[in-house]
Amino acid sequence: MLALYTLIFVTIFFSYVYFYRRAKDPYGTFHISFNKLPGGPDPPRTEWLNMGFWKDTEIFPEACQALALRLFRAASLKPDGRVLDVGHGSGDSILLQLSHPQVTKPALLCGITSLPSHHRRSQERVDKFLSSADSADAPYKPTVFLFEGDAIWRSENRDHPLSPHFRHQFDSILALDCAYHFNTREEFLRQSFRRLATGGNITLADLCFAVPPGPILKLFLWRVLHVMPKENMVTKEQYLQQVREIGYEDIEMEDVSSFVFPGFRNFLKQRGNIGRVFASLICWLQGKGLRFIIIKGTKVVGNNL
Ligand SMILES: C[S@@+](CC[C@H](N)C(=O)[O-])C[C@H]1O[C@@H](n2cnc3c(N)ncnc32)[C@H](O)[C@@H]1O
Ligand SMILES: *[C@@H]1O[C@H](CO)[C@@H](O)[C@H](O)[C@H]1NC(C)=O
Repeated sequence: MLALYTLIFVTIFFSYVYFYRRAKDPYGTFHISFNKLPGGPDPPRTEWLNMGFWKDTEIFPEACQALALRLFRAASLKPDGRVLDVGHGSGDSILLQLSHPQVTKPALLCGITSLPSHHRRSQERVDKFLSSADSADAPYKPTVFLFEGDAIWRSENRDHPLSPHFRHQFDSILALDCAYHFNTREEFLRQSFRRLATGGNITLADLCFAVPPGPILKLFLWRVLHVMPKENMVTKEQYLQQVREIGYEDIEMEDVSSFVFPGFRNFLKQRGNIGRVFASLICWLQGKGLRFIIIKGTKVVGNNL
């Protein structure tokens, strides 16, 4: 019996990995169903896609929003600030910044996310929000620019928000559950430092390790699952050191794993076989030292751009 379950488990796992590798990107539209509430509207109003902060809830979109609010609070957003939100997926963190009563509203909000479908969806939702009746009458008129592309700026792309040619600097750069994907995160942190205004902050909800991951685990996460480049599989201490060496100061790191992983696992367990496979995977990774952190750094001194 146990052998049968193991066989089913392994088959599901590898078929998933096979399709996933073909797609080359772990994301798509599966998360829409995660946001559906029993008896709620279909399609659902939110399209969140993060691991959530499950301290006071067992509901996926609520946990996702709680994680976003947690990130915003850590970022101590400045009123009428210039914000860059990277890896925003379908745009819920963008909409939250424009509309949530507890969130300090930006004057300029830029976003960049890699999947064309997510970018289009975000643009559609933001356009709808900005043209809706309550925002048309409201005195608050933010400028929102959304870009499609890799979070890392490459020299040929002058329109990238992290390009030295971009017309704005930022007071806050936010990365909600995505920077571990970037190739590499260290390069992203360096480019962000250059584009932050003096006194500006970068704040990330991100993954790292309590102990150095072994070679097999690295190979698995990078070459099999494609979740993170090996350079990003660093310990907390190495992460802090990278951030410090780039020039950030007043660095703060909070380990929120216990509010993220167990709740997310419980949620996944209720989502069929693939969900259960993922729940076990997260449990295993946590055992191997995976941690969910919120990290913030400030650019205290200016630089010449
Ligand atoms: C776990 S989802 C988080 C989405 C969103 N922040 C949220 O909370 O709903 C990670 C997002 O990062 C995007 N992403 C992955 N790699 C990226 C890259 N190199 N540059 C920009 N975005 C990336 C993915 O397409 C996906 O939308
Ligand atoms: C950056 O964070 C510090 C607190 O850590 C805050 O005092 C400051 O106002 C923030 N800067 C901006 C531009 O939001």
